[in-house]
This record gives sequence, structure tokens and C-alpha cells, in this order.
Amino acid sequence: MQKYLILFILVVLGNVTASFAQPQQIHLSWNSSEKNAAANTMVVTWASENQTQSRVKYGTDKKLNLAQPAINKFLADGKMYIYHASLNNLKANTTYFYQCGSDQDGWSDVYSFKTAPPLGSQKEFIVGAWGDTQDNEFNTQFEKTDAIVQQMRKYPVQFTIHMGDIVNTGSLVPSWQRLFQTTQPINVIAPFMPVPGNHDVNNELDESGFQEPFPIFYDLFNLPGKDTDYSFNYGNTHFVAINSGHAKGVEEAKQTNWRYAKGSAEYQWLEADLAKARQDKNITWIVIYMHHPLYSFGWSHVKGWQEHITPLLDKYKVDLALAGHRHVYERHKAIRANQVIPLTNKHVYKNPNGTVYITNGTAGGSPQGLGGSNMPSMVFTSSAKMYNFAIMKIQGRRIMYEVYNENNEKIDYFELLK
Ligand SMILES: [Fe+2]
Repeated sequence: MQKYLILFILVVLGNVTASFAQPQQIHLSWNSSEKNAAANTMVVTWASENQTQSRVKYGTDKKLNLAQPAINKFLADGKMYIYHASLNNLKANTTYFYQCGSDQDGWSDVYSFKTAPPLGSQKEFIVGAWGDTQDNEFNTQFEKTDAIVQQMRKYPVQFTIHMGDIVNTGSLVPSWQRLFQTTQPINVIAPFMPVPGNHDVNNELDESGFQEPFPIFYDLFNLPGKDTDYSFNYGNTHFVAINSGHAKGVEEAKQTNWRYAKGSAEYQWLEADLAKARQDKNITWIVIYMHHPLYSFGWSHVKGWQEHITPLLDKYKVDLALAGHRHVYERHKAIRANQVIPLTNKHVYKNPNGTVYITNGTAGGSPQGLGGSNMPSMVFTSSAKMYNFAIMKIQGRRIMYEVYNENNEKIDYFELLK
């Protein structure tokens, strides 16, 4: 009898082990540009080896008494199913608990996120800013990115914006899988809102998909609009994410097919988006982010890319322009119409009458050489090679931007006031 009991237990355990595959690579995002999307919606995306009738169970307490069925798609390259479920009609400024999966496939842990306050709210919120998590040289398994994630998690970030070069080779599915596994601890509590970098997009100049992400990008992310160029509101701030494609490659090939070239569909979309945000009484700040910097030291500066975009930023008084690409941290004085605006206190921009430009690359990709401190617009550039991320606190008419290295040591900070 005892022998049969042991056999029974082994069979049950064996079945549980064989069939249990807890959802992986879980990440949150918003996928709508509707003006209240961050307050009223959330998308949960995850991966599993199994195809089951999966769903997100959620609610304002851990009873999780609401449910939203998930949609899935098989990705042959990754031998996995990608699931996503869109949660709608959420209450603003409210904490929700959730878990994803199915009884057959197993369930994730219970996580929580907080929805955005109502549009126009002056309440403080915190954004994580990072870029260039690419799995190169010393970061082949995202070891350095993992260190950054551990530090960033110490701050109550409501969402993160990523300046691109998310992985080193966008066509390699295992890189994306490892990226999402590594970044899951922050992505399960804070929507992950990236732009693609040149490593994430097709670099072949003569192909029709040049400068566009590889197909898997669209399967893995659920972002507003076409997933690569989009905007969203959070509280009193309008965030604009633009795909700079392979701007450096275009310059080096002496071509002119910049994304956002004046008159292009992207340019027209951006102008309309910025104009609408500037007319909106609920919006105090406009923050734009992209991969290739518009102002930066040395070889990462892309002249043609800059010439098309900066007049729009001037015209619509964009407050802050963030970029990656160069694996450094550098901060510039405000610039308007290519004129550098003097800064009396190097940590305070008060009504600067120009856009503040920052390069905030390397949350994993190998740090690069030092910046050019003698550049007229430069306020701060790293004195040593380092990994970094930023914590941006927005409260009413004040932005506090703090930059940390992978050991959580503060490298730089500034206030932007209006
Ligand atoms: Fe790059």
C-alpha cells in the first residue's frame, strides 16, 4: 500500500513539474494615446511555453475579483507564446493588484501597480529614465542591467521611459527573452515605455524596412499608436516618444532619408501632437525622448537628424529632450534656435526659455569615453566611464532630475522650474 502511495505522489509531482511553467517576462505598458490612458488603462504582457486559456486576475485588493482574458500569439523563433491582456475602465490614482496565467499553466506572483492621477494633476510622480541596456561586451547576460534594475527598484517609479538600444541585436529573440527576464522586477510594477535604438531596428539601407524595428518588437511591446512613435499624458506632463531609426547610419552613408525629415508623415504627426499638447490647459510640461541625441558631444551627434527636429521643439517650447545612444551621461544648458542660454546656477534652470538636452545612455551597454567638457552648451559630463539611470520627480511646476550610477551613487542633479 505504502509503495503505491509513494508511486502516486511521484506521478503527481512529476505531472506538476512537467506542466508547470509560471508566466515569464512579464511587463506592463499603456497602448493608447487617449488622453486618460495612463489613468484608466493598463496592458499586461507575458510569455509562456504553453498555450492555455490565460487571463489577468486583478482588483483593488488581493482578492483579485476581476478578470480579463488574454490574447496569445506563438512566436516560432522564441518557441513561446506571447500573451497580453488590456485592463480598461480602471480608476485613476488607484493601486491595483494582479496576477497573470492560468490554472493549467501556473500563475505569476501577485504584483501591484498604481494608475496615474487625473489629467492635469499637480501631484508628484516619479519616472525612471534609462537607455542602452544592450547586451554587449560586459553585459552579455544583462548582468549590468540587472544591477541597474536592482537600484532603480529602490525608488517608487510609476513608469520607466527607455531611450533605445534595448538589446544589442534586435533580430535575436533570445536577447529579448533575457532582457524581459532581467527587467521583470521593475516592469511588473511600472509600465515600460521605450523607443527603439539603432540596434533594435533594421540597419539595411536598401531594404524597405530600413529603420523600422524587427517584427518581434511589435509582438513583445504593446505601446500606443504604431508602437514606435507615440505620446501619452501622465498627470500634468505630456511624454512624446520618437523613433530616430538609424540616424547615424543615414548620415554616414551620406543619405538624406532621416525619419522626421521636414514634411514627412512623422514630422507632421509630431508637429500636430506638440501643438495639441501646448494648447492643453492640463499640460504643464512636454518631455520628448528618442535614441539619437539632438545635442551631444562628439561622434554621436547627428547633424541632419537635429536640423529637422529642433525647430519643432523650439516652436512648441518642449521642456526636456532625453536621448541615449552615446554610453555616457551629459547635460546641456537650455538651447533655443541653436543659441545656448546662460545658466547662472548650474543645478537650477528657472524658466530657461529653451529646451534642456540630456544624453542618458548606458544602463548596461559598455560605457564609453568621456564627454567634451569644453563644448559651449555642456553643463555636466561624466568624469569617468560609468553605467547610469535617472530618477525624474515631477511635482507641479518643478522637475527634479537625479542621475545615479549602478552603485546608486548620485552623479548629478538639477531642478527645472516654471
Ligand atoms: Fe545607439
